[in-house]
Amino acid sequence: STRTPFIAGNWKMHLDHLEAIQLVQQLSYRLNPRDIAEVEIAVIPPFTALRSIQTLIEGDKLELGLGAQDAHWEDSGAYTGAVAPPMLAKLAVDYVLVGHSERRSRFGDDDDVVARKLGAVQRHGMIPILCVGETLEERDAGRAEEVVDRQLRAALAGLDRPHEVVIAYEPVWAIGTGRTATPDDADHMCAAVRRIVGEIGGDTQAVRVQYGGSVKAGNAGDLLARPDIDGALVGGASLDPDGFAAICRAG
Ligand code: G3H
Repeated sequence: STRTPFIAGNWKMHLDHLEAIQLVQQLSYRLNPRDIAEVEIAVIPPFTALRSIQTLIEGDKLELGLGAQDAHWEDSGAYTGAVAPPMLAKLAVDYVLVGHSERRSRFGDDDDVVARKLGAVQRHGMIPILCVGETLEERDAGRAEEVVDRQLRAALAGLDRPHEVVIAYEPVWAIGTGRTATPDDADHMCAAVRRIVGEIGGDTQAVRVQYGGSVKAGNAGDLLARPDIDGALVGGASLDPDGFAAICRAG
């Protein structure tokens, strides 16, 4: 396909800003520009490290995208503890995760909140990475595609260009469990995601669909070789510079 593979490392609630700088430096030493010429790579650290990493990326001219793990939907206001999209845009943040399953299950981000956050991120010129995926219970009940369909429509309906959102298909049962979806199952759902984006009015060939859930160096190649898997959203393995660099090369 003509879509550039996109590998993003979601560090979740790990690493202070000094450890974050160290990880990006270690990563940059391991990434030979020739190996990754055709891949787009981003790191998604906690908020407290964004400024340090932005400075490092700009100072060393690293070919690395920067992402944030969440954003509020308002531009400012009485929302103690929250971070507004314009603040992230000012830090040259390129991507913002929206609707990660941990936000949905542990912080109560429902479909409505996800839609509002997604719109706000786009309005400020950043690219949302919209996370969707079913639980094990939903998969066992044969409802996986129905759940993903609902999550996508709720978040993307009303957007003019739904394909300008990166979609990360992350089955909840595969996140942090060491249990990966088979490349066939993951590819099948990523193809379904693409079809649904088309039904909503997006360009099916332009939209980038990542797989996430226990991606590591050992399984990344098989997953990324599939036609409808355009990249990976990597959690645990993105904290190890060797492992993450190997995943990037697989892209
Ligand atoms: O955002 C990343 C995903 O939640 C995957 O996490 O690679 O640790 O399973 P994981």
